[in-house]
Amino acid sequence: MTATTIAGRGQTVTFPDGFIWGSATAAYQVEGAAAEDGRGPSIWDTFSRRPGAIANGHNGDTACDHYHRYAADIGVMRELDLDVYRFSVAWPRVQPDGAGAINAAGLDFYEKLVDDLLEAGIAPYVTLYHWDLPQALEEFGGWTNRDTAYRFADYTKAVYDRLGDRVSTWMTINEPWVAAFLGYGIGVHAPGRTSSAEAFRAAHHLMLAHGLSVRALRGSGADEIALTLNLVPVVTPGQVNDPALVLSAADAEAVDRVDCLINRQFLDPALRGEYPEQVLKIVDRVAGLDHIRGGDLAIINQPIDLLGINYYTPCVVRSGPGEPANPAYPGTEDIEFAGAYAPTTATGWPIVPTGLSQLLVRLSRDYPEVGLLVTENGAAFDDVVSGERVHDADRTAYLEGHLRAAHAAIEAGADLRGYLVWSLLDNFEWAEGYNKRFGIVHVDFATQRRLLKDSALWFREVIQRNGLWK
Ligand code: NOJ
Repeated sequence: MTATTIAGRGQTVTFPDGFIWGSATAAYQVEGAAAEDGRGPSIWDTFSRRPGAIANGHNGDTACDHYHRYAADIGVMRELDLDVYRFSVAWPRVQPDGAGAINAAGLDFYEKLVDDLLEAGIAPYVTLYHWDLPQALEEFGGWTNRDTAYRFADYTKAVYDRLGDRVSTWMTINEPWVAAFLGYGIGVHAPGRTSSAEAFRAAHHLMLAHGLSVRALRGSGADEIALTLNLVPVVTPGQVNDPALVLSAADAEAVDRVDCLINRQFLDPALRGEYPEQVLKIVDRVAGLDHIRGGDLAIINQPIDLLGINYYTPCVVRSGPGEPANPAYPGTEDIEFAGAYAPTTATGWPIVPTGLSQLLVRLSRDYPEVGLLVTENGAAFDDVVSGERVHDADRTAYLEGHLRAAHAAIEAGADLRGYLVWSLLDNFEWAEGYNKRFGIVHVDFATQRRLLKDSALWFREVIQRNGLWK
């Protein structure tokens, strides 16, 4: 992406007073210390041992060693002037078997982290589930087992009991679509299962877990509660550059169906207490509907305060048989998923900042009762360290383009409260291992040295100015 492609570049923009600036990570991606202080194994420990599952055979045993280096990492956050640090709690540290006994030493770590963040003037935003399910629960079916949702509520309560007096913002589940469809549907994420029926069941149980967790948090007195979804504008290739393009009936139907599967399958139960008809039809065909019990939707539809949005790239589709069909989207065999149509990041994801503004405006229009927070946005690029610097102009351009788009969305009426960069640190990028670097801070995994990239220095200035200046 070059500077000239950034809409609005050259104009100073200021975000609303109190706009929240921060950065995010997740436990398995940064902590390491996989076998310390009583932590039990998670499905990612198991999956990353499977030959061929992760690029270069990497795993999260050490990751960024954040478990031991969190104090220095908070120093880095302070240097960047972050308002907020979003991190996740590893369920297997707190409850090694996913049920029953609580491991106090696991909670001690998060208590120290939270206390030090508060001391540094940085608000802790806690994600309760970022994909590291205790392996012991997977032995009983993992998220395909309804009981896992109830275990998640117990675990929520245990974490809240220890940290609730200091943490004001709670996020239940991170990206249930990814956990269900990449984990149980196409098997490129843990636990590596490949069944569309199981993926739909897992998706429903993840949402049930969200609802039960919100109930537990609310009942305990939590201030602010969020659900974090990977949301994507679904468009045809022609709409990438011309959002107003009028679609054929077949293309419009293709767009709607994929939107239902990736976005509304999660938005509608959480925020409206219903599944879209389109989704129910496909679920019925693929998995049956027995796992969706009476009363579930009422549990899932708990009022929440914030919707967390993880946005990276749009989804581009058109009618016409996909060759091959996209197995992550059961029920779309007659839909074609388009390939690259714009400059891409190192993960091959097309860079389309306007997708973010479209998404935010649409969410505030369709779900006006919930505030919006970008909980993740960022990009992997092939960074080069030169001396003490990383000149990652491509990442800065990516972030700038998306921040301009976010600002445009606010001007168009979106109720956007803040923006968190993914990620603070280069880290374990799931099936891609350590090769895809999303950090604004470079990590040398041999020495664990941290180095602020140019994008981090730029982001600090954005935070300090509460906006963009040129
Ligand atoms: C979303 C996930 O929440 C995060 O864990 C991941 O690293 C980023 N996407 C980038 O793929």
